[in-house]
Amino acid sequence: MAGGRFIFLGPPGAGKGTQAVRLAKDLAIPHISTGEILRSAVRDGTELGTAAKGYMDRGELVPDEVVAGVVADRLTSDDCEAGYLLDGFPRTLAQARALEQRTGGNVGQVVYFELSEDEVVERLTGRRTCPSCGRNFHVKYLKPQTEGKCDTCGAALIQRSDDTEATVLERLRVYREQTGDLVGYYEERNLLTTVSAAGAPNDVYATLKTAIAKE
Ligand code: AP5
Repeated sequence: MAGGRFIFLGPPGAGKGTQAVRLAKDLAIPHISTGEILRSAVRDGTELGTAAKGYMDRGELVPDEVVAGVVADRLTSDDCEAGYLLDGFPRTLAQARALEQRTGGNVGQVVYFELSEDEVVERLTGRRTCPSCGRNFHVKYLKPQTEGKCDTCGAALIQRSDDTEATVLERLRVYREQTGDLVGYYEERNLLTTVSAAGAPNDVYATLKTAIAKE
């Protein structure tokens, strides 16, 4: 199986990014993470980054019109002809509707990663990220070979500024309030596949592959 359109939905820290990297590679489709696009804009000090930074630091959502515009632009790239894996978009009903418009209603399969809030907090507060290549590690579940160093490029790992416990709790509140309704929205449209995100990354990946093959 190659190609296809996928949306990864679920609470922050459920492991969407971890699974997305692997599935996008296997299916030869672009992994489009709105969080990564925004973080890279912040690092580069672009107009988009300047507009997004305050929201991200507070754990709030960046305004719909900004994010929907970024995704609409990205979907015009040639590499999206075979499909896409959208990770972290849409996150509001307005974004879901913008995507429907952009794709003529053919948004693809929505995978909902389910995980308890306690596990989310543990995964996010223990996450360490490579500021150079973007690879993620975890102090307990996915340790780098050399402590504090990225296995891929050797850069010193950092903690994302929005991965402190207080901001993680705020991100969870925002998720419940603004994104949670998308689960029912896509369920009603028969587009939702639920995958348990508990368990080791390899086990979650096996469950994911089985679940999407059934649809
Ligand atoms: P974004 O970057 O999208 O953050 P998020 O949704 O909060 O998701 P994360 O990247 O934090 O978690 P993840 O589910 O990908 O988990 P991961 O695989 O890393 O967004 C950041 C911010 O940008 C938002 O707060 C908002 O401000 C803005 N933004 C982005 N999109 C937007 C939009 N559409 N609209 C408006 N604003 C937007 O895993 C987490 C940790 O757990 C890692 O350490 C990993 O190693 C570990 N782990 C992963 N899987 C497992 C496992 N199975 N077992 C044990 N540990 C695991």
